Amino acid sequence: FGKAIHYEETVDSTQKIAHRLAGSGAPEGTLVVAEEQSFGKGRLSRNWYSPKYTGIWMSLILRPNIPFQQAPQLTLLAAVAVVQGIEEATELMPGIKWPNDILINGKKVTGILTELQAEADRIHSVIIGIGINVNQKNGDFPEDLLEKASSLFIETGHQVSRAKLIQHILVKMEILYKLYLEQGFAPIKVLWESYAVSLGKEIKASTLTETIHGTALGITEEGVLLVEGHDGQIHNIYSADIELP
Ligand code: BTN
Repeated sequence: FGKAIHYEETVDSTQKIAHRLAGSGAPEGTLVVAEEQSFGKGRLSRNWYSPKYTGIWMSLILRPNIPFQQAPQLTLLAAVAVVQGIEEATELMPGIKWPNDILINGKKVTGILTELQAEADRIHSVIIGIGINVNQKNGDFPEDLLEKASSLFIETGHQVSRAKLIQHILVKMEILYKLYLEQGFAPIKVLWESYAVSLGKEIKASTLTETIHGTALGITEEGVLLVEGHDGQIHNIYSADIELP
């Protein structure tokens, strides 16, 4: 991965550029990296704060031969790769909050956004967008993020090389992706669960239509979160905001 790298100073969103490149036949493993995004995209139609020179804003193109229902598995795979990459590059031990927020000391340092290009039920390409807060200082975050977000600099107390971290993450991604194509999701699921911070705990899951209070039990083979509600019912959560008390 990363043999072809499209490096840009300022873009609206690396996702957009990766979509365009994927549409014009860019090979699997093509990476788009930018110093700054003016319209960084987050999950659930949110913005992603992407200031200049301090973070990693990148999108990776994959072309797996899998039905599109399995695409969420790749998001979980990417989260494992980023956790392992951060572990290699720093002394930190991050955790994963379902589906793919990476937390250190309860604060979010990374978000992952997976988008698909598919025809019928076959995937044409998967664009994995990874945003990592690397060298932001405490005062750099806007007010509304201060409580929830952190950076590797804040958590380690020193600068972290973005180039090295990208390298570590790409190496991990490649290893995990190979494992996934050869053995399926099962080994990735075990790794993901070993980093998950919410399993077995009380959570609040807010979906578009309802709010469920209950215990996070685990994930299914598809990467769907299972929550046992206080009413004793098991809920399958496909997309939601999860809060840990
Ligand atoms: C989230 O909401 O947690 C996902 C955030 C994903 C942000 C990354 S930064 C690189 C890529 N380009 C974007 O516009 N978004 C993703």
